[in-house]
Amino acid sequence: MDKFVIKGGRRLTGEVNISGAKNAVVAILPAVLLSDEPCIIENVPSISDVKISLTILREMGAEVTPIGKDTYRIDPTTVNNYCVPYETARKMRASYYFLGALLGKFNKARVSMPGGCSLGDRPIDQHLKAFKVLGANHSLSQGMIDLTAEKLVGGQIFFDVVTVGATMNAMLAGVKAEGLTIIENAAKEPHIVDLANFLNSMGANIMGAGTDYIKIRGVKHLHGTTYSVIPDQIEAGTFMIAAAATGGDVLVKNVIPKHLESITKKLEKIGVNIESFDDSIRVWVDGPLVKANIKTSPHPGFPTDMQPQIATLLTLASGTSIITEGIWDQRFRYVEELRRMGADITVNGTVALIEGKGNLMGAPVKACDLRAGAALIIAGLSASGITEIEDIYHIERGYDGMEVKLRQMGADIRKVSLPDENDDKESEQKTVSRNDINDDAEAV
Ligand code: EPU
Repeated sequence: MDKFVIKGGRRLTGEVNISGAKNAVVAILPAVLLSDEPCIIENVPSISDVKISLTILREMGAEVTPIGKDTYRIDPTTVNNYCVPYETARKMRASYYFLGALLGKFNKARVSMPGGCSLGDRPIDQHLKAFKVLGANHSLSQGMIDLTAEKLVGGQIFFDVVTVGATMNAMLAGVKAEGLTIIENAAKEPHIVDLANFLNSMGANIMGAGTDYIKIRGVKHLHGTTYSVIPDQIEAGTFMIAAAATGGDVLVKNVIPKHLESITKKLEKIGVNIESFDDSIRVWVDGPLVKANIKTSPHPGFPTDMQPQIATLLTLASGTSIITEGIWDQRFRYVEELRRMGADITVNGTVALIEGKGNLMGAPVKACDLRAGAALIIAGLSASGITEIEDIYHIERGYDGMEVKLRQMGADIRKVSLPDENDDKESEQKTVSRNDINDDAEAV
């Protein structure tokens, strides 16, 4: 088990390179299954959700070959299996994209109910509704979802809620369905557009992605392609806030500034300076941070996946801020941990009241999900003293080498391997003490 040990109080300066988007790549990798030829996927982030997706592809019979640091050649022509077992699927929420991709390829799919971040109730009724419109029936047994269709035929899908996952799954299943598929009340996130662009680069005919009305004309075959995943807007936003929280001055590189508009607008309101360039954003602070009210909502609104990070920044600002979570029922579980660091936050249902105190104090804390973990890193970087963050596997699901990138900007953060509770003296000796965190030697 690993943890991060952070000695807070260092300004972040310099540059950081943003990796490919988690929430795009976890749909693009299953989408490769739909191709009749090998595909080359570039700008793939090195995160555990990608490792799991590639394992699933390999287990299904695909040939996955790394080419360089962040590029993979994936040959799906050898896939002869439409089942994603519990052992792999449970590790990742996004395993539900194999439902749409396998259904589109084989007219059937068998995938374990997904795992992933616990943010409250995470139903998949809208995914199943879309599959049903296209002609697939589902059944659930032993924790596995089975989908079967005689053939897929286009239809009109209207989502009752705006959902990223179901919009992507409807595209995956609809791309080879006979005739026309219409998706209404579709989600508009940048990763929806990226999946559509990827599928279109294989010969699909998807129009309107990025609006709430997507039109798909089914095609019989999809061919191979070379495609580069978009930069991760949430990783970029997280580093922007980390820079702001430490009073730093950072150039965030390899971004699409348009995707970051809702974040940059709020940061400017809080008193953070932002300068946008073609594919980079400079973030710096030279004055006081002030309160702001934020409500998360689907794109182009303020992203829920940035909510814990900006809440952390607001604990450092003067005044009372109100945060309303508009997507997930339980996305304030990290607040308990921030309180241990001295934050004054009161939560009532999906609303949090933050009394900005200007500073946080280091403490031992636990990441309860991916973005909560990122928020605790930001808290630790800005706090006085030492912060130790446990359960960092959540963070590694979605951030590519976060501590390495932070160290390059001057942060004092180390990854430390913890001995298992049952381990003996030998592993005790391997524990790195708090005094060791300035050493450059590899953490054990
Ligand atoms: N919903 C339903 N029924 C469904 C699907 C969703 O009621 O069938 C509801 C959900 O309960 C939620 C809302 O619709 O209240 C939005 O859910 P959505 O389907 O958009 O979420 P998701 O696809 O499961 C993705 C990201 C999340 C991100 C949300 C919202 C991936 C793999 N995950 O989840 O990312 O919070 O969209 O933008 O793309 C993260 O990266 O930290 C993360 C949790």
